[in-house]
Amino acid sequence: MRISVIGCGYLGAVHAACMAKLGHEVVGIDVDERKISELSAARAPFYEPGLEDLLRDVQETGRLSFTTDMSAAHGSDVHFICVGTPQKKGENAADLTYVDAATVGLLPHLSPGDIVVGKSTVPVGTASRLAELVQLKEPEAHLVWNPEFLREGHAVSDTLQPDRLVYGVENGSEDHPSVAILDEVYAGSISSGTPRLVTDHPTAELVKTAANSFLATKISFINAMAELCEAAGADVTRLADAIGMDDRIGRKFLNAGIGFGGGCLPKDIRAFMARAGELGADQALTFLREVDAINMRRRSRVVELSRELCGGSLLGKRISVLGAAFKPESDDVRDSPALSIAAQLQLQGAVVTVSDPKAIDNAARRFPELHYEADVDRAVQRADAILLLTEWQQYRELDPYALSTLVTNQRILDGRNVLDAAKWRAAGWTYRGLGRP
Ligand code: UDX
Repeated sequence: MRISVIGCGYLGAVHAACMAKLGHEVVGIDVDERKISELSAARAPFYEPGLEDLLRDVQETGRLSFTTDMSAAHGSDVHFICVGTPQKKGENAADLTYVDAATVGLLPHLSPGDIVVGKSTVPVGTASRLAELVQLKEPEAHLVWNPEFLREGHAVSDTLQPDRLVYGVENGSEDHPSVAILDEVYAGSISSGTPRLVTDHPTAELVKTAANSFLATKISFINAMAELCEAAGADVTRLADAIGMDDRIGRKFLNAGIGFGGGCLPKDIRAFMARAGELGADQALTFLREVDAINMRRRSRVVELSRELCGGSLLGKRISVLGAAFKPESDDVRDSPALSIAAQLQLQGAVVTVSDPKAIDNAARRFPELHYEADVDRAVQRADAILLLTEWQQYRELDPYALSTLVTNQRILDGRNVLDAAKWRAAGWTYRGLGRP
């Protein structure tokens, strides 16, 4: 099929490459010229495992191109909207400027029978509003909401083999003409067993925000348990192992630590609360305020623990922060708890050096006042304390004996509870986890 993908960020660039991989002819469109020239040269403008190889692979076939010119969408049968919906400045609600602009910009290029497919995470009600715009301009075109559930760091495999496909169509019916078209787009995944659900517009929009709210709640639940474990002298990692064995609960997303961040969960739960308020259903989501509060409390807790670890004062203490990305296998620092903790420590008088295998450039753009050092051995030189805040594999594998020769004081705070406490203590370190004795 001929496909256009509007918005070539973390979602759209991966989506465009994967659609070409599935055999479609794809044009990726974005207003950012730098992004387009990188992608045109088969370079990923951000770090995502496997993306660059995939771009090279599919560009050789001639099925994938990129442009800043919206008129290139003309002639495509399916138009995916993959632009961002960030948090509005000074408000909880989602900023729909880019989704609106992408849709309006696309309208002149629609032909009868085309489908516009929204993948961005939007407040419920957006799809029906945009569907009206589409129908007004081209009565024989349709708008479908097809939320994306990919995780950064696993974006390519999550797009090629999603765990489910959700199509939100105007009448919520399997017979809607858009259903067969999308089935053709995703024929590869469907034939390999991916379940597919057809819903109405609002249900499809809510599936995404509900899923992200559930994940955020699961993380904050275990972080609340970590607070209790700390008060009671218990171990939250063993607690998570034990409750996770109940398959109604499950062990995934029960890792206590410095909390969730990134470009999705934090802003999505806030936008969801804001939207519920507009709909007069704010009471239904008041618990998400607590989920957010527990999450933000983790960051202050780590600052306090670091102060304790440094003997009661942060002033002039050399602190090495390992990890700047919001999660491993990503260079994304949007709302990264690691970076926010590093900045707090610096504000409170510590001398902070941040290291990360991939995210240093992005981090330095956001917090230029911090000191950055890519090499771990140099980053921990003469440290009074090390904070492991993003669980990259290379940090999990650090050798406590080798590191002890580099630091001034053998103190480590394991913000992701991924190190073997006994091993680090045996090597002479003062080890602190979160919610662990
Ligand atoms: C999330 C959803 O998982 C995905 O389905 C959706 O499409 C977009 O938002 P992503 O933001 O890539 O994906 O990251 P995710 O893997 O969900 O992690 C989010 C945050 O939670 C990270 O900061 C991570 O470190 C943290 N986390 C995750 C925990 O603190 N504990 C856990 O047990 C799991």
